[in-house]
Amino acid sequence: MSFQKIGVVGSGIMGAGVAEACAATGASVIVRARTNAGAEALLDQIDRSLAKQLEKGKRTAEDVVALRQRVTVTTHLSELADCEFVIETVVEDLDVKMELFRALDAVVSPKAIIATCTSTLPVIDLAMQVSRPERVCGVHFFNPVHAMALVEVVRPICASDETIAAVTEFVLACDKEPIEVKDRAGFIVNALLFPYLNNAVRLLENGVATKEGIDAAMKGGCGFPMGPFALLDLVGLDTSLAILDALYLEYADANFAPVPLLRRMVSAGLLGKKSGEGFYQYGH
Ligand SMILES: NC(=O)c1ccc[n+]([C@@H]2O[C@H](COP(=O)([O-])OP(=O)(O)OC[C@H]3O[C@@H](n4cnc5c(N)ncnc54)[C@H](O)[C@@H]3O)[C@@H](O)[C@H]2O)c1
Repeated sequence: MSFQKIGVVGSGIMGAGVAEACAATGASVIVRARTNAGAEALLDQIDRSLAKQLEKGKRTAEDVVALRQRVTVTTHLSELADCEFVIETVVEDLDVKMELFRALDAVVSPKAIIATCTSTLPVIDLAMQVSRPERVCGVHFFNPVHAMALVEVVRPICASDETIAAVTEFVLACDKEPIEVKDRAGFIVNALLFPYLNNAVRLLENGVATKEGIDAAMKGGCGFPMGPFALLDLVGLDTSLAILDALYLEYADANFAPVPLLRRMVSAGLLGKKSGEGFYQYGH
């Protein structure tokens, strides 16, 4: 086991998945949600994920019970004080994350490593908020966390080799594949994936084909497990828009400029699976 006690901040899609992955290493995990309702929703999400894995025979009943017992929740950041490693998974908003990093720096031991699950934002900007920039890096898990093998380990220019080595060891303990990448917007996967997703929305906006047709084409023609609209709904349209905005800010490449339809759908509250409707509708 690489870390004995891990803190996770944020109780959304990634908070739940990352907490589960951390607990699977054998570590005790404490998750900080903003509200009691958020904390309960996170535990529900973990329970549902573990039940599915049990059903599919991917985990034993004993394993599920033991893993679940290692996860606790709190609404107080101060309860993360004795964590050796903290992963933030809050909304993709640089100001919110910077404020959180300042708050974490005041609370957790100076020896602790603080990592971000950001998809695109500059990790260096977060590192510069704390008194230990050499102990900050990115740990970019993929959604759904239990099913996706890759974790991008993002190295900002201030990170020490010890930090990257410790986080790489942690990723291996999660039974995932770590790939080190420089701190550039989108890292590897999203820098390549998001122009494709954005251009799928452009095809739809231009009336080239229906969303069902585009999804079927990419599954049947490229062998992708899901089409771009199903994937955008899974990621969350708000998160996808924030990712494209951050990519465009970094590279000023027109392929990253969010197609207007995406921004309008976010304004309308159509966020994908998590809100019940995005490009498709979902029963809750
Ligand atoms: N969704 C994905 O597919 C995916 C994949 C990899 C990484 N990420 C990254 O993980 C992070 C979280 O994404 P998510 O999909 O879990 O989002 P989400 O919308 O499901 O959850 C966001 C979390 O942030 C919290 N939050 C919102 N506003 C806040 C504020 N002002 N202060 C503190 N907390 C606040 C919410 O309560 C919630 O717990 C983002 O940085 C995102 O880029 C997302």
